[in-house]
Amino acid sequence: ASTAATSVSISGDISSQLHGGYSHPLARSWQAERQLTKSMLIYPVFITDRPDDEELIASLPGQKRVGLNKLVPLLTPLVAKGLKSVMLFGVPLAPTAKDALGTAADDPNGPVIQGIRIIRKAFPRLFINTDVCLCEYTSHGHCGILHEDGSLNNQLSVDRISDVAMAYAEAGAHCVAPSDMNDGRIRAIKLKLIEAGIAHRVLLMSYSAKFSGCLYGPFREAAGSVPSFGDRRCYQLPPGGRGLARRAITRDIGEGADVIMVKPASQYLDIISDAKDIGKDMPVAAYQVSGEYAMICAAAKAGVFDRKTMAFESTEGILRAGANIVISYFTPEFLDWLET
Ligand code: PBG
Ligand code: ZN
Repeated sequence: ASTAATSVSISGDISSQLHGGYSHPLARSWQAERQLTKSMLIYPVFITDRPDDEELIASLPGQKRVGLNKLVPLLTPLVAKGLKSVMLFGVPLAPTAKDALGTAADDPNGPVIQGIRIIRKAFPRLFINTDVCLCEYTSHGHCGILHEDGSLNNQLSVDRISDVAMAYAEAGAHCVAPSDMNDGRIRAIKLKLIEAGIAHRVLLMSYSAKFSGCLYGPFREAAGSVPSFGDRRCYQLPPGGRGLARRAITRDIGEGADVIMVKPASQYLDIISDAKDIGKDMPVAAYQVSGEYAMICAAAKAGVFDRKTMAFESTEGILRAGANIVISYFTPEFLDWLET
């Protein structure tokens, strides 16, 4: 009581004074555990089977689908600005391209395998992630091979998905990232990588906690992967399933995943935090998916907020929750906005 009486200039508790700690922009940047840098960003790239294609994707403002001949022109300015990593998606448009087994997924002349070869040659330092799934290539649009009743045949799907992953890895992908959600695919892929003697040079990123819902709509339009019947709720996680997500993450780490992913991102920040907690010793990736991106574009266009401010705010939320890697359609813009 006597000290308080002599400190005439201090009216309240000293610990209540916080503003001095973040009055300068540099001091504000010190408040974040993780700063967004260019090396954290992965840019999704859609490659069609029509070599000269270059068309804007209506559902994803500003994003393009390109053919193999337009891949280098698309990436050259981005690599010059510091792009470090891409995630490749194949978009087969030929009328005969789809069948019940998703045969086109690992066509050696198809867009993904040829895309890997072109990128490796043109940009030797660019890290190539490949989304591994069948839904873009199956006639029914589901993420695997089906039983007669329309449900996923897990064993056949895992065999096929792991073959596709091997084909991408052998073509030179640095990372294979299965997004299909079949049980046991991480183990199957890891075993095949080991058997082929390439496990030491291929990163296995699992879409571990991938939730079902409406946020993949713009992507499915872009990739032509809307299921022809039913939905994906029997293999993608139910939105309320936090415990299920934790079990899937734990399982995939046990099966040999090198990186675990949570998707969508902003609606599942608690899951990103859980992933970081469960996978303490590994990088956690978060995918800010097509619907999240399209929502921000639409709201910015409607004048609800500033596009750049929300791109940062949403991404910083994803980092704060625990992500080390962000797969983002804003990547080209961040390359302009970020210094490092
Ligand atoms: C393929 C796949 C999807 C996405 C990534 N890989 C679509 C889906 O599962 O329906 C979604 C990406 C996005 O929405 O941006 N399985
Ligand atoms: Zn799929």
